[in-house]
Amino acid sequence: MMETDAGTLPLHALNPFMPGAGKQPPELVGRAQDLSLMERMTTRTKLGLLDRGVIYSGLRGMGKTVLLLKLGAMAAEAGMATVQIEANGDAEAEYDELFREISLAVMRVRKADLRRRLSDVFAHVESISLDFVFGSAKVELGGEAATKRGVQTSSYRLELLIEGLSEELGKEGSGLFLFVDEFQDMSVEVMATLIVVQHKMGQRNLPFYIIGAGLPNLPGVLTKSRSYAERLFEYRVIGRLDDAAVADGFQKPANELGYAFDDEALSRLVELSTGYPYFIQAYGKAAWDAADSNPITVAAVRRGEPVARAELDRGLYISRWQRATPLGREYLAAMAAIGESCTSAQVAKRLNRSASDLSSIRLSLIELGLIYAPERGRVSFTVPGMDEFIRRSEPVENQLHDSAA
Ligand SMILES: Nc1ncnc2c1ncn2[C@@H]1O[C@H](COP(=O)(O)OP(=O)(O)OP(=O)(O)O)[C@@H](O)[C@H]1O
Ligand SMILES: [Mg+2]
Repeated sequence: MMETDAGTLPLHALNPFMPGAGKQPPELVGRAQDLSLMERMTTRTKLGLLDRGVIYSGLRGMGKTVLLLKLGAMAAEAGMATVQIEANGDAEAEYDELFREISLAVMRVRKADLRRRLSDVFAHVESISLDFVFGSAKVELGGEAATKRGVQTSSYRLELLIEGLSEELGKEGSGLFLFVDEFQDMSVEVMATLIVVQHKMGQRNLPFYIIGAGLPNLPGVLTKSRSYAERLFEYRVIGRLDDAAVADGFQKPANELGYAFDDEALSRLVELSTGYPYFIQAYGKAAWDAADSNPITVAAVRRGEPVARAELDRGLYISRWQRATPLGREYLAAMAAIGESCTSAQVAKRLNRSASDLSSIRLSLIELGLIYAPERGRVSFTVPGMDEFIRRSEPVENQLHDSAA
């Protein structure tokens, strides 16, 4: 390890904090339960015991991606075959990614003879003709019909592949763990296939697990796809961290390098973070950059605050705001004026419009990932603090009736 004599290390160059989507934090705090859940799953898998898949849901920047990556690394470490994918809404592309990543997972298996058996499963599935599934009449398909047939074929192939691989892995006390990020965005076809396959593998006692993560609407989206999805998974919310975990998120990385935040600095940082992991990295980075002593004082934290706020505006809020159309911005501004979460009826009332008039604007904002419907009739921002940002900077350009004219 490096020299740890306090004060002798080049302070600024060592800054351990780094805000950014999917960036591993210097210290992953507050997720002990999730890590032990994964430990339990892999232990049970080794013993040939079954478990349920897990679905994580939470707002933007809560730490879903870094948690999935960490859980994936743990599962791989425990000898499981692991696959990581990110959904994007295009069924063909999602199937391509699944097949590619699953084949890479097979190549990564260390035991040579197991790897060979898994490759055989692959080759077998590739060689199977699915004509009988669709009727053997040779129809010349073109364009959309061919694409549709392709997607259907992929669904069967994926099921056969996962079944065959899980069977072989299970014989060796291993299992197939599929990590899916941005799961709420998955195409309806692939989502339905994966849920059905998870269900069937459970019935057949085969060790295949989906560990998914997405926005808070994810549990609802899964249940809408297949109602039994409700019982198929364990659902966990990735929410704000408690103060002790947040304090660790600042102090541990500093201690690791021979530095510390003093009590006053730490309590100010905890207050600023509001339990939001993304803020830990942003305020931690700015305070560190502004520091000129060890321990780091509240004066450094305060000097860093405007810098952190500007970086958060740039990194989290402004780009999202700019994605919206003028009408969309009016809608967002109305939401922000009401609060963190509100009903679409309240927004409509504020804008003097009927809710049905605004439904296409609302939908386009949902598609842009700026808001989501936590339940029927309600809308919320997907990024914590977006409402506060809009109220603070009032970036509204024109009135709804002007731009609608
Ligand atoms: N448990 C944690 N402790 C400390 N920092 C964390 C923790 N979880 C996440 N972070 C930090 O927060 C930021 C956001 O994390 P991440 O990208 O995983 O969030 P996310 O939920 O996937 O967001 P999005 O929905 O935008 O994809 C990163 O900079 C990451 O390092
Ligand atoms: Mg993410």
